[in-house]
Amino acid sequence: MMRFLDIDSVHYAYPGRGEVVRGASLHIAPGAFHCLIGRSGCGKTTLLKLAAGLLQPQHGAIALQGMPVTEPNPDMGFVFQTPTLLDWLTVLDNVLLPIALHAQVQAGQRQKAMALLDQLGLNRQSGLQSRYPQQLSGGQQSRVAIARALITTPPMLFMDEPFASLDAITRSELQQDLLALCQSQGTSVLFITHDIAEAVYLADHVSVMHAGKICHQLAIDLPHPRQHAIRYTADFNTLCAELRQAMDETA
Ligand SMILES: Nc1ncnc2c1ncn2[C@@H]1O[C@H](COP(=O)(O)OP(=O)(O)OP(=O)(O)O)[C@@H](O)[C@H]1O
Ligand SMILES: [Mg+2]
Repeated sequence: MMRFLDIDSVHYAYPGRGEVVRGASLHIAPGAFHCLIGRSGCGKTTLLKLAAGLLQPQHGAIALQGMPVTEPNPDMGFVFQTPTLLDWLTVLDNVLLPIALHAQVQAGQRQKAMALLDQLGLNRQSGLQSRYPQQLSGGQQSRVAIARALITTPPMLFMDEPFASLDAITRSELQQDLLALCQSQGTSVLFITHDIAEAVYLADHVSVMHAGKICHQLAIDLPHPRQHAIRYTADFNTLCAELRQAMDETA
């Protein structure tokens, strides 16, 4: 298999504590959408931070496109559970922040930010791009955070429960928009969720984590593009049931 992100037998203990990641291995192919599920506290966020170079493993190796990961780099985008937008910047300036931190923003980049906001359902006509984060709903803030993560077209996107606080309808709309964007940009994604149906809907592969290790892997061979109705098919529910069983075995 062609590999894009390689996590090989990684171990990690927070300073002064026992190991919370204990020999985890995970491989993501170029352009693949990979979901990571597992019970609270099993080490998912820690593994994502290791993969992104935000933490350094004590043992094992992590490589992105064959290069060892030692710190976050411009090939990576991030979306966390809380959108972490900057209150004093408008929506548009929040989206452009990853560029503005390093360089003068060009007109083309401004257009790209507007196009991303459009693709994510934040319509241009409403003047939403010149509002401030406090003037947005939670779902709209999440959309801005996704646009910000994708503004540099990063080949690798890390997402840690980005939709956890959203209502079911907003969540399923965002899932669809995210999938379409990642497919069109060819983005590889590592996506953490507690929601088995969300994992099956989004992913090409799902890994189940338990006690610091990957204990189960499942290929999701549902066709693309995925429409909402796929959730009611027998194949979809069989995949959910298999993951549910793998999760129950970790109890
Ligand atoms: N900064 C830290 N210092 C010490 N221990 C930590 C730290 N962050 C997390 N831990 C511990 O490491 C273990 C794994 O935490 P982690 O956040 O990776 O779990 P998780 O699978 O993401 O859980 P959740 O689903 O609740 O987000 C937990 O026991 C947690 O208490
Ligand atoms: Mg977590």
